[in-house]
Amino acid sequence: MSLTQDELKQQVAKAAIEYVKTGIIGVGTGSTANYFIDYLAEVKSKIEGAVASSEATAERLRKHGIEVFDLNNVDGMDIYVDGADEITEHMHMLKGGGGALTREKVVAANAKKFICICDESKYVPVLGKFPLPVEVLPMARSYVARQLSAMGGQPKLRDFTTDNGNIILDVHNLNIPDPIETEKTINQIVGVVTNGLFAKRPADILLLATDEGVKTIT
Ligand code: A5P
Repeated sequence: MSLTQDELKQQVAKAAIEYVKTGIIGVGTGSTANYFIDYLAEVKSKIEGAVASSEATAERLRKHGIEVFDLNNVDGMDIYVDGADEITEHMHMLKGGGGALTREKVVAANAKKFICICDESKYVPVLGKFPLPVEVLPMARSYVARQLSAMGGQPKLRDFTTDNGNIILDVHNLNIPDPIETEKTINQIVGVVTNGLFAKRPADILLLATDEGVKTIT
């Protein structure tokens, strides 16, 4: 009997709890990360608290009675746990479907290990079928959109404002043969805050939920 996508997300979120030891945990955003937060609540006495990658995550953590720390008051973290919209065998990820990409990247940069939790529909040979989210300063919207079009993509404005007060352009049909290079190129466009490619700093551990159980890929 095959599991639903939601059941797979729950299963992989639970598996990540094994990596929770002590101290402060970096927590991602999205439906899989939400399940992780719910399981984290069951072991909250082991940890000091968490750093959140979005306002939504901070709110859910607090509801469970988990203390949320400002990143500036934290001296690094052992782990950052988050989902992804796509991930490859090279552990390169495409993220930001929930619009929290910038804070996710910032919190992840402070963690020793990035643990990616996904159901197997996210495991892909090449990134880019999922539109690539790019967070942009509102005043730079048209300029950045023209540059992204020149790269061969089709940017579409999302009806959304980020936690940082910026806009998101979702870039469709972008060819991403070299995610590290594309991540760098897009981040160099003036007006871009960050893009949803997490390749320069890939995941360290991938927990992948399948019908046959959770696979660990390193
Ligand atoms: C949030 O901004 C994203 O990066 C999420 O990590 C990604 O969209 C995965 O979300 P789900 O767990 O809801 O699929």
